[in-house]
Amino acid sequence: MTSLFDLSGKRALVTGASKGIGLASARLLSQLGAQVTVSARGEADLVRAASEIGARAIVADVSHAAEIERLVQEAGEIDILVSNAGGPPTGLPSLVDDEGWQRGFELTFMSTVRLSRALVGGMRARGWGRVITITSLTVGRPSLGLPVSNALRAGVTNFARSLALEVARDGVTVNTVAPGYTATERLQEVFKSPEDAERVMSRIPAARFGSADEVASAVAYLSTAGAAYITGQEILVDGGWSI
Ligand SMILES: NC(=O)c1ccc[n+]([C@@H]2O[C@H](COP(=O)([O-])OP(=O)(O)OC[C@H]3O[C@@H](n4cnc5c(N)ncnc54)[C@H](OP(=O)(O)O)[C@@H]3O)[C@@H](O)[C@H]2O)c1
Repeated sequence: MTSLFDLSGKRALVTGASKGIGLASARLLSQLGAQVTVSARGEADLVRAASEIGARAIVADVSHAAEIERLVQEAGEIDILVSNAGGPPTGLPSLVDDEGWQRGFELTFMSTVRLSRALVGGMRARGWGRVITITSLTVGRPSLGLPVSNALRAGVTNFARSLALEVARDGVTVNTVAPGYTATERLQEVFKSPEDAERVMSRIPAARFGSADEVASAVAYLSTAGAAYITGQEILVDGGWSI
């Protein structure tokens, strides 16, 4: 009997995959048997990541429509899309300017819209597909210094739920995975000082930061045949932060 967790024969595209959560997700999908394509902006890190996990590498910046068009063309048919990138600009809500909002919109919101729009047609035609977007714990509980993430990721979550409604009957599921505080390079950008990090850690019920592999496990599960009846959902991987 074929395992419900076997991804042999499936083709996955993971963006923002040279480091952190994207790389951990790509690695796990590859270990489960998927043929993986990874993408990010910086070529050196991306090529290193791709050769480590046995994936194909395509350099692209997902905050630009033309780059996404080229990426999906080069990637070819994709069964599993993991839409991920770096975080949007930070700053106090009253201080983020139009340029910061626009940049965040292209990076965090439109990247998911464009990638999924480009790939979901093929998934529907083949009767099987997975669209998984990495969001954030800020969807459920806004953080003071992350207004762009707070606002746009709530939008991404409802976009994903809308798309899930449209494609559910064609064997395609659309879900989001919302990491809590996860030990990656991004976390170093978010904290202004070691005291800041300690203050946050003291409020996490699990009393530690998560790992990229723990977020990747949720991504991998949602990618499998076993998760075929889960769609339009958000999985929080946050050590109990949101309880
Ligand atoms: N770590 C956390 O605690 C945490 C918590 C909640 C949410 N998140 C969110 O989860 C996502 C992944 O976070 P992470 O911690 O794994 O970040 P990370 O370690 O900084 O990795 C980000 C990855 O995305 C790539 N990337 C950045 N901008 C890109 C762009 N415009 N186009 C294509 N690729 C791009 C980076 O490579 P290049 O720079 O070379 O492109 C890198 O591979 C982010 O959106 C982050 O905000 C993280």
